[in-house]
Amino acid sequence: MMRYRRFDPADWLDRTVILRNRRYTFVLDDQVFGGFEPAAVHRIGGKADVYQLRAEDDGTVHALKVFNKRHSVDRHVTTAALLNIARLLPGLRVCTRAVVSDTEAFVLGEPGLAWAIIMPWIEGRPWADYIENEAPSRAESIAIAQVTARQLATLESKELAHTDISSTNVIVAASGRGPDVQFIDVEEIFGHLFDKPVDPSAGTRGYGHPHAAGQSCWQPAGDRFAGAILLTEMLTLHADAIHEQVADASLFAPDELCADTGKSRRVRRELAALYPSAASLFDRVWSSSGLRDCPALKEWADALDALGRPQPPVPGPRRAPDEDSFVPPTPAPPPVSAPPLLPTLAPHRVPVHPPVVTSVSPLVPVSPPVPAPAAPDPSGDVPSNPGITFVPLVDVDDSWRAQP
Ligand SMILES: Nc1ncnc2c1ncn2[C@@H]1O[C@H](COP(=O)(O)OP(=O)(O)O)[C@@H](O)[C@H]1O
Ligand SMILES: [Mg+2]
Repeated sequence: MMRYRRFDPADWLDRTVILRNRRYTFVLDDQVFGGFEPAAVHRIGGKADVYQLRAEDDGTVHALKVFNKRHSVDRHVTTAALLNIARLLPGLRVCTRAVVSDTEAFVLGEPGLAWAIIMPWIEGRPWADYIENEAPSRAESIAIAQVTARQLATLESKELAHTDISSTNVIVAASGRGPDVQFIDVEEIFGHLFDKPVDPSAGTRGYGHPHAAGQSCWQPAGDRFAGAILLTEMLTLHADAIHEQVADASLFAPDELCADTGKSRRVRRELAALYPSAASLFDRVWSSSGLRDCPALKEWADALDALGRPQPPVPGPRRAPDEDSFVPPTPAPPPVSAPPLLPTLAPHRVPVHPPVVTSVSPLVPVSPPVPAPAAPDPSGDVPSNPGITFVPLVDVDDSWRAQP
């Protein structure tokens, strides 16, 4: 067993590194380069540091997520194999991933790289930065919310939940074809196939349900509250009066959530001016007693899709005529029919010791058929599951993991 030593990319900036049989260089951050020591493109999260890598063979960029000691665990191997099934769902591009093994880290002399994840680099900005730096118009904001709601609804329809939806875990990019919204930080995704994390998230500050004490987001309804807060931000922050009231990296501070305040009334008015059904969804979230009591994400997606259609008369407050006029976006295309995920609808279990590593191959459950769901946990959390057998298939998407 190697002693843990925190990974420092400084030793690798002038040479290549081979990870999972592919040769990379660390991309340098020209913002900090100017005359001083070179530094790698680097993003800091709560559990990990993320660096940008460039593959030497085809020049594509990838993210290397290096966990801190507490989160550097071999569980990422099992999760990566299962996430590879979900990578075809809209918004889950980072699920295509490989995990650096402890042996590989040992051979490199970099114990801190054990169980680090290599995944596609997602262009764009986390929503928290996007709203600050891109100042999206009202129409653009609505289009972003529509895409996000549809993707969250697709996840929920597959009985999957991201479990930590927040302004820093969602990356937004504008493109000629409409906004691209990608969820990142997916290691603790909920699904019946996945093992329950040791310490599942109850939501990032400003996104956790205030009345769900003892209930984590690791459950099928896990994204309902955080998703509603994020969508509310997307629908209202373009308005200066709301934007001024942002609390830190989220619109609401924890003690403002589900509370009747001047801010919540203002946000509600903004939603009502947009479309009454968005305001009534917000009301249901605000008066909810827990995650399952919040509207299903499909209800948000359907309500927001309706924004592209002719509006019924809107009662209540209206926007002043000089405010930026809303051009209804083209109706969203029918939901991408997400590929049938393997029977996520019933509980399964992954093997205790899955084949190591990285071969992030799709997994196919085989008979015998799935046992009936267990009785719900009174805490609201879903227990880790019993029983699945699966066989790895040949990887269908190797393009980003070419040979050196
Ligand atoms: N695949 C990726 N592509 C681009 N940026 C990423 C990617 N993964 C993470 N990041 C950046 O790194 C930050 C931290 O990553 P994240 O996975 O959220 O770590 P943590 O689990 O520590 O919160 C993110 O907020 C984002 O800015
Ligand atoms: Mg994060």
